[in-house]
Amino acid sequence: MAEQTVPPLDLQPLNTNTNDPPTDLKSRMKASYDAIAPRYNEWTIPHSTTRLHYLNQLLGRLPITTTVPVSVLELGCGYGVPVTQELLSHPNFSVTANDISSAQLALARARLLPDPPGPGHGQLTLLEGDMLALDFTPATFDAVVGMYSIIHLPRSEQVDMLSKIVAWLKPGGWLLANFAAEELPEREVQNWLEEEKGWMFWSGWGSQGTMEKVREAGLEVVVQETVEDAVDVKFLWILARKSDSSK
Ligand SMILES: C[S@@+](CC[C@H](N)C(=O)[O-])C[C@H]1O[C@@H](n2cnc3c(N)ncnc32)[C@H](O)[C@@H]1O
Repeated sequence: MAEQTVPPLDLQPLNTNTNDPPTDLKSRMKASYDAIAPRYNEWTIPHSTTRLHYLNQLLGRLPITTTVPVSVLELGCGYGVPVTQELLSHPNFSVTANDISSAQLALARARLLPDPPGPGHGQLTLLEGDMLALDFTPATFDAVVGMYSIIHLPRSEQVDMLSKIVAWLKPGGWLLANFAAEELPEREVQNWLEEEKGWMFWSGWGSQGTMEKVREAGLEVVVQETVEDAVDVKFLWILARKSDSSK
């Protein structure tokens, strides 16, 4: 088999003269991931070790026992491997997994909800749509996870997303997510992963700015690490907690 090229992610700001994201960002994002889901999912396999490393840090802080129910929201779950799958391996977990791409959710459904029903059925709800448009009762979740997904929101929306996440978390609940480590007003690429339909958008406040936004949203940061991914891009990983006394 011919060796596949691995193009770098190259998260350098492109549009230096404007900070306005495209008005049709969400529909273009959906169309892109609908088109490139299999390619992305294969390309990103080398990042699974990092995902599981941080997921394990979260799991170590949640009750892993059949007697205590744990409710987790995953934002931009992709096809659910390895993160949703690992969450579902704990029988006391119920997982609400969201993604804007119907192709990604179809792949997740095939992987995680096989027919006939197997383990994990009854624990998983798949929700299609923009994560920012989700609506939950306050204090619903013990943890919210967003891996390589919140970075696809314009950075002003990342602040709005953090506020929503904090409201949805129970007191003492956890956020695990990664963000662009470099400050990135916006970055658009036309053919990401050398895919003709691979238009892509990322944004971020950089490590210091993101930390400030996370704290301003009302979370205490417990883990903050900048990690270089397999593609020469640095991400800020954070594990942060809502205080026990918050409403
Ligand atoms: C880089 S992939 C990461 C997928 C998965 N979390 C992982 O770690 O492999 C980003 C995912 O976020 C989804 N996504 C992008 N923008 C989104 C949005 N506004 N709301 C919900 N999902 C979104 C994409 O469809 C895609 O599946």
